Amino acid sequence: MAKMWAGRTAGEVNKLADSFNSSISFDSRMYKQDITGSMAHAAMLSAQGIISSDDADSIISALKQILQDIESGKLKIDPKAEDIHMFVEQVLTERIGDTGKKLHTARSRNDQVALDLRLYLRDFTDEVTVLLKDLVKALKGQAEKNIDVIMPGYTHLQHAQPVLFSHYMLAYAMMFLRDIDRISDCRKRINVSPIGCCALAGTTFDTDRQAEAKELGFDSVCLNSLDGVSDRDFCVELLSALSLVMTHLSRLSEELILWSSQEFSFIELSDDFTTGSSIMPQKKNPDMAELCRGKTGRVYGNLMGLLTTLKGLPLAYNKDMQEDKEGVFDACDTVKMCLSVTAPMIKSMKINEKSMLESARKGFMNATDLADYLVVKGLPFRDAYKVSGAVVAYCIQSGHILEDLPVSEYRRFSTLISDDVYQAIDLKTCVQRRSSEGGTSVESVKKQLAYLEEKL
Ligand code: ARG
Repeated sequence: MAKMWAGRTAGEVNKLADSFNSSISFDSRMYKQDITGSMAHAAMLSAQGIISSDDADSIISALKQILQDIESGKLKIDPKAEDIHMFVEQVLTERIGDTGKKLHTARSRNDQVALDLRLYLRDFTDEVTVLLKDLVKALKGQAEKNIDVIMPGYTHLQHAQPVLFSHYMLAYAMMFLRDIDRISDCRKRINVSPIGCCALAGTTFDTDRQAEAKELGFDSVCLNSLDGVSDRDFCVELLSALSLVMTHLSRLSEELILWSSQEFSFIELSDDFTTGSSIMPQKKNPDMAELCRGKTGRVYGNLMGLLTTLKGLPLAYNKDMQEDKEGVFDACDTVKMCLSVTAPMIKSMKINEKSMLESARKGFMNATDLADYLVVKGLPFRDAYKVSGAVVAYCIQSGHILEDLPVSEYRRFSTLISDDVYQAIDLKTCVQRRSSEGGTSVESVKKQLAYLEEKL
């Protein structure tokens, strides 16, 4: 069949080229945005006297019906159509005849596709924000439930200083809170209307872009028509924000995977979020966390892919830009899926308080506290650091931990040390005394919880 754009050419395309050119397999998900945009466009055309109000009414009610029919399954989207825009317009014209052909006045697919994508991604930012909030709530819930559980804190994955498990959970909550911020900032630049930029240069008709934008819930309009149809910065920005969401999810997943190993045994994931092995009956594998870690790569790839597609494109629309959607949609789907799984996985995981504490007792994590103790007694920190280091070396050699080294032996290293040292190096004290702003004490964690509460 000849294309709707048959003009200079007969509109007959080589079969292979036709299917190569088609984007319906991935842009059909924008049917609702396409129809909503077209309804606003018809209303604007009629308000401006460009088409009659009777024509607008019949276009709008037919579009409404098309939307309903797609949603009910009565109207199947034709997989052979060129794209969702052509499909909707074709059905419209089949249903109401010549009046349907008036819809595309003062518009091009170039501003239409930019509009649809912006509307789609605007909705997405709202959905993903809800999911991010759910995850922050799950992390916050675990922090509240286990507020004073002590675990080892690491640098270089070596035991460093004891921290509260709640503090650890909130570190991730802070990251996801920033993601919410970033996405809300990106939404501002998504929410600008390109419709009315037309093919590239604007239109000879007396359109009202402001009214059409307002009708569609946009904050403002793209001020340069060439930019309006060429700009995909909002997709890049969103992909970048989503890449960071995945970075955070992947780091969290990695911790869950490590923590649920035999070596750590800090947590147990609920059966709902683990799988077994087809051969080893004892297995409980953290597949969901591994998948989140693994899927991070494809989101990064989508970001890099789009940047590369856009690089070197002259203004204005080029067909290369049709390549924007698959990657963006894939990233949106991936992030939504990963967040939806991670929030309940965090919520339902069990904490092994004993293992965490046992592990925290190893590795001389209170050595800094021993040094700080000596500083309070009057020794300069560098000297105190040396004494503490020497005591640790001695403990390793003699099979002691700082907590069970007799005070008489301590005093061979420094006579400043007396019985009160045990209180100073108790893990609880170590954590409690780190009450500096943002530190790991319960008091500080409570402040963080209050901040989160307010932000949510
Ligand atoms: N399917 C196209 C896309 O996704 C729609 C815009 C086509 N415009 C054009 N002049 N061929 O980019």
